[in-house]
Amino acid sequence: MSRVIVAIDGPGGSGKSTVARGLAARLGWAYLDTGAMYRAVTAEVLRTGLRLDDEDAIARLAAACVIATVPRVTINGRDVHEEVRGDAVNAAVSAVAAIPAVRVAMVARQRAWADAQPGAVVVEGRDTTTVVFPLATLKVYLTASFTERARRRDDEDAGALGRRDQADADRPVSPLRRAAGALVIDTTNLSVEAVIEEIQSCLRTST
Ligand code: DC
Repeated sequence: MSRVIVAIDGPGGSGKSTVARGLAARLGWAYLDTGAMYRAVTAEVLRTGLRLDDEDAIARLAAACVIATVPRVTINGRDVHEEVRGDAVNAAVSAVAAIPAVRVAMVARQRAWADAQPGAVVVEGRDTTTVVFPLATLKVYLTASFTERARRRDDEDAGALGRRDQADADRPVSPLRRAAGALVIDTTNLSVEAVIEEIQSCLRTST
């Protein structure tokens, strides 16, 4: 793989979105928030009233929808930027993201997105280092104590965060795992800038 890809993984509240966005902005690289894609599908599932156990219908929706994540999150042209961070989507997204056919559809889009970029990319999300881009130039796994992650996610109830962690780690398809060879950074006591610095210094030695 000649393209430079930095893939950043980790549980909710580990800082991966902030760090990935900051790193991409600093380097002028394209950035993809894959969680926003699963969240957008979930918003559409909720809008259309599909049942969360209707996997076939949800899979069809995921295969056919049009998703954008920048500058705002949209699905089929509908702006869901705020909605995707709301309680309803938080509560349902793990179930949607656990459907194998949904993952197949999203992973294909994520790889196609990277292929279409003219330069280096930063990709962030739960299976980006293990499944989507296992051969990424640099794989980063961010972690932090549960207390700190819950503090950072002050818009999400700590109990809900814990349940989502568990659901994401326990699911049979693409569970949250540290990829072999990933740079592991505990961000509990680190500033965003310090984490970005550490990734950049590792990147200098791996490119
Ligand atoms: O990173 P996030 O909190 O925005 O992710 C939202 C949900 O989507 C979360 O439950 C994990 C799931 N997800 C996933 O299964 N695979 C990804 N590549 C990204 C997110």
